[in-house]
Amino acid sequence: MCGIFAYLNYNVNRERRYILQVLFNGLRRLEYRGYDSAGISIDDYFSVSRNPNTPQPSSINSLSSSPLVFRQEGNIESLVKSVYQEVAATELNLEESFTTHAGIAHTRWATHGVPAPRNSHPQTSGSGNDFLVVHNGVITNYEVLKETLVRHGFTFESETDTEVIPKLAKFVFDKANEEGDQTVAFNQVVLEVMRHLEGAYALIFKSRHYPNELIACKRGSPLLLGVKELNDDVCNGSAFHDAKFLSKNGNPKELFLSSDANAIIEHTKKVLVIEDGEVVHLKEGGVSILKFNNDKGRNGDSLSARPASVQRALSILEMEVEQINKGKYKHYMQKEIHEQPESLTTTMRGRLLRGGSCKAKTVLLGGLKDHLKTIRRSRRIVFIGCGTSYNAALAARPILEELSGVPVTMEIASDLLDRQGPIYREDTAVFVSQSGETADTLLALEYTLENGALCVGITNTVGSVIARNTHCGVHINAGCEIGVASTKSNSCDGHVSFGNWR
Ligand code: UD1
Ligand code: GLU
Ligand code: MG
Repeated sequence: MCGIFAYLNYNVNRERRYILQVLFNGLRRLEYRGYDSAGISIDDYFSVSRNPNTPQPSSINSLSSSPLVFRQEGNIESLVKSVYQEVAATELNLEESFTTHAGIAHTRWATHGVPAPRNSHPQTSGSGNDFLVVHNGVITNYEVLKETLVRHGFTFESETDTEVIPKLAKFVFDKANEEGDQTVAFNQVVLEVMRHLEGAYALIFKSRHYPNELIACKRGSPLLLGVKELNDDVCNGSAFHDAKFLSKNGNPKELFLSSDANAIIEHTKKVLVIEDGEVVHLKEGGVSILKFNNDKGRNGDSLSARPASVQRALSILEMEVEQINKGKYKHYMQKEIHEQPESLTTTMRGRLLRGGSCKAKTVLLGGLKDHLKTIRRSRRIVFIGCGTSYNAALAARPILEELSGVPVTMEIASDLLDRQGPIYREDTAVFVSQSGETADTLLALEYTLENGALCVGITNTVGSVIARNTHCGVHINAGCEIGVASTKSNSCDGHVSFGNWR
């Protein structure tokens, strides 16, 4: 997981040179997070600026020329260098001024595909850059989405999981237009895309069909919005909760999106922390936020009315994804057993680091690194789970005990609750649940939080209750587990837990 940055100037003239500088500086502020490649996208008004006989458009909004994309592996300075080289070669006018302009930028920490320009972000929907996306995190179901999109004629150019996102956006947009919905809004397209994504992400979308607009959304990975009102003399210096900053008005302003406050605070202190499931739409100086209420992607009440037409467009895709999901296997259970090597690779992607000259390998679990000291100092580590999760933890116990030197004990969630077993402030309690919603495990989490222990989650599901309510944890990215879920209908009656067979 690395960095995302975006800069949108509204109703204030900014030269292309200035826009580039803001984007590059944003990336420099995010550099400390570590990365292996970087990229940006800005608008191209070639046809206008280069040909003196072409009249200047009255409104830049009416143009939808293809945005420019620059991507480079290596450090930000090599991106900067390559951008200015390309600018010189193409005679792109750096003095050209934009009243409103939306630029996006990214630093990548590769999880799928080697560091290379083609795998760097923005990833694109194809030639013409109809939709561009910068992404932090991992899309765990990208393979089925990719296969489906390929069948619909899309050609993939990268090895990333991310590339399915802009292509899916184009698919949704084209389908909505084919069905005569020419007014489909940018946020409706993105809502529809999000319904299909599993995994962890912070995303920013840019599109030639929606010039000067940006959409940001997230599940799991962090994302902030900063607002700088340019005629606002009184800056109260604190984060804002005032709805007026979000409403549309003609006031000149600058909007920033970033993975962390580092890249925003030099511009403004008015920051909004975007929450999981929110779709933030920057358009005409206003900021509107729609909220997804369901992790699996069904719309909440507030959204159900407007995105409906787009949902219809995707029903074909949904059926295909469903078919492809099972692949050559007869049952999901069989498929998931055979997929274990791939699940393991996905889980470890981006987390194995090669150290210095000795080439030693280290594992970095980003979600635990700030808590390792506390965990090491704890009096014991208590694994809490049900069924398969309990047994997985049981299998991990010997190696964890050996490596940490901390005693590891095991609890079946329902049994811990029945006994009201002792949990101490000095304990580290680790909650293991594929779905992150296992009822007994959730009750045990509540109980353990009340007793003051450090609570660590190990789950597959970003945004699940366990991921949200634990102090820290690890998202294992092993994809969804349908085979075991289908056995749950026989076992989830009240307090009976799989683990009780023991
Ligand atoms: C990030 C990516 C992950 C990718 C990995 C390697 C996100 C959210 N995660 O993971 O997809 O594979 O880089 O590139 O973008 N947390 C809890 N409870 C839980 C699980 C997690 O509190 O049960 C917290 C963690 O403490 C952390 C955050 O959620 O603060 C993200 O955890 P995780 O996804 O495991 O972090 P990374 O390993 O950095
Ligand atoms: N999974 C994406 C990729 O490999 C994004 C990685 C990141 O968070 O930078 O391209
Ligand atoms: Mg399970």
